[in-house]
Amino acid sequence: MFGWKKQKRTDSEKELPEHIAIIMDGNGRYAKQKNKPRVNGHYEGMQNVKRITRHASDLGIKYLTLYAFSTENWSRPKSEVNYLMKLPGDFLGTFLPELIEKNVRVGTIGNFDALPIHTRKAVQQAVDKTSRNTGLNLIFALNYGGRDELIQAFRTMAHDVENGDLDPEDITAEMVDHHLMTCTIPDPEMLIRTSGEYRLSNFLLWQSSYSELFFTETLWPEFTTEELDQMISQYRKRERRFGGLNKEEE
Ligand code: FPP
Repeated sequence: MFGWKKQKRTDSEKELPEHIAIIMDGNGRYAKQKNKPRVNGHYEGMQNVKRITRHASDLGIKYLTLYAFSTENWSRPKSEVNYLMKLPGDFLGTFLPELIEKNVRVGTIGNFDALPIHTRKAVQQAVDKTSRNTGLNLIFALNYGGRDELIQAFRTMAHDVENGDLDPEDITAEMVDHHLMTCTIPDPEMLIRTSGEYRLSNFLLWQSSYSELFFTETLWPEFTTEELDQMISQYRKRERRFGGLNKEEE
């Protein structure tokens, strides 16, 4: 869905994260607290996607990747899966004009072809209509699984080895990067999970190797732009060493 080349940032630009990835967890518990059906939590979660997207766009964030449906979520009750598959259409049906106005470009990662036709149609239309936009890239991880993504990449490289097109010694981290669904997207500097769970749950496993992790007890529908701002300011204070030493230690 994206082209090939990743753009690296210069040091002077690094204060604001370029890419924020979010595991939007806690919709079900939110609904339960309000004595409402689980799907109501997903509806409120979708409303919050609008608020957070608007804010990320206003801040000048370049990539916002949202875990909307994992490869494991198919095991939920059929009625909940059906509801979740309807949400992208509802979201884009009401929010696409604003996304266009805000110069947001919609993209996806995940096994798109296995989604129901109505979900694909809604998302594809948004992808097409925003393909020339140059502001925030809003990326929905839909039917996405980090392990699946890596298996797919390894299979492709194994075939290249089998055909004699690739020497196993030439396999590098950069080459693996290029075979992932995120091949044109820089790795997330920040990865946020809401609802007090401390797991990655198969999200961006390779790409989050050096991400700064942020966990909050707040349930996704209640996660505010203020809390996001606080996390971003914490991120700006953290020193990222990528396995090396900090300046004073060198
Ligand atoms: C996890 O909460 C959330 C999901 C599996 C779905 C996330 C989807 C949204 C936030 C809406 C997506 C919006 C668009 C625009 C596609 P949970 O159900 O596991 O919560 P629980 O752990 O409290 O039960």
